[in-house]
Amino acid sequence: MSAQPADRIGQVIGDRFRLDALIGKGAMAHVYRALDQKTSAYVAIKILKLAFDGDPSAHQRFAREADVQERVRHHNVAALLESGVTQFGEPFLALELLRGKTLRTVIRDEKCVHPLRAASYAYQALQGLGAVHDAGILHRDLKPANIMLEPSPGPIDRVVVIDFGFATFEGSAKLTAQGAVVGSLRYIAPERLRGEDIDHRSDVYSIGIILYELLTGAPPFVAASDMDLVEMHLHDIPDLGPVPAQLNDILQIALAKDQDDRYSTAGEMASALEGVAHELA
Ligand SMILES: Nc1ncnc2c1ncn2[C@@H]1O[C@H](COP(=O)(O)OP(=O)(O)O)[C@@H](O)[C@H]1O
Ligand SMILES: [Mg+2]
Repeated sequence: MSAQPADRIGQVIGDRFRLDALIGKGAMAHVYRALDQKTSAYVAIKILKLAFDGDPSAHQRFAREADVQERVRHHNVAALLESGVTQFGEPFLALELLRGKTLRTVIRDEKCVHPLRAASYAYQALQGLGAVHDAGILHRDLKPANIMLEPSPGPIDRVVVIDFGFATFEGSAKLTAQGAVVGSLRYIAPERLRGEDIDHRSDVYSIGIILYELLTGAPPFVAASDMDLVEMHLHDIPDLGPVPAQLNDILQIALAKDQDDRYSTAGEMASALEGVAHELA
């Protein structure tokens, strides 16, 4: 049995990483800042939550997360440094430590961000996502809580895609073993809700939703019930009124109901954003 997060501070994981502070919590895992005693550098340690201790599918997902993340090396994707099992039997990942906020916190704190900054965040996330897709991987859980900032000396922070907990290899499966749609409903593409095959364009849709939220402070589709939310993704045309006009066309394409009407790659959407950037300053 391992300890609760607060009792773990000071523990050394994998004979190497000294847990320093709890810095994040997701549905699956606790994330700590830790000192790598081998290199004297700080890293992030992601440990599967105790609640999933006896859950083989959670363990499997964690193993796959390591497998997937290992294959992608990109400036805009969190680097996996090491994976292993703690002395208590919990799987863990050692990741590059990101020192900024998640986009979820940015939106909560600032409500919405300047269009140029929003476009840069989406552009950078799409660059990272392009590398993920090129490696044959679908992220499947893109949302503001899974995109982080790393402070940089330039005018706009570096954007880093995190959390490959629901990622999968393209073509391998559209659903989880339980048959459930995974990921956060506010960011899920219509084809996934229809139970159809998904591909990298489903991740592009999620980036469209995130860009809309960065620009306006709320995602385009919000409903009191999951059923209503699904209906909106499937049938409602997003209200682009609150969005700066220069970004209307881009969002319309990114949020198309049919994959074939969307950007065909993450890079294509990134280029479109680059093309209008000078008009947003
Ligand atoms: N590499 C990292 N550096 C700093 N903080 C991180 C890092 N990875 C995750 N976090 C923080 O921990 C939270 C949960 O991590 P995440 O990988 O999303 O776990 P889950 O799979 O449980 O959602 C994130 O929302 C973020 O606040
Ligand atoms: Mg997460």
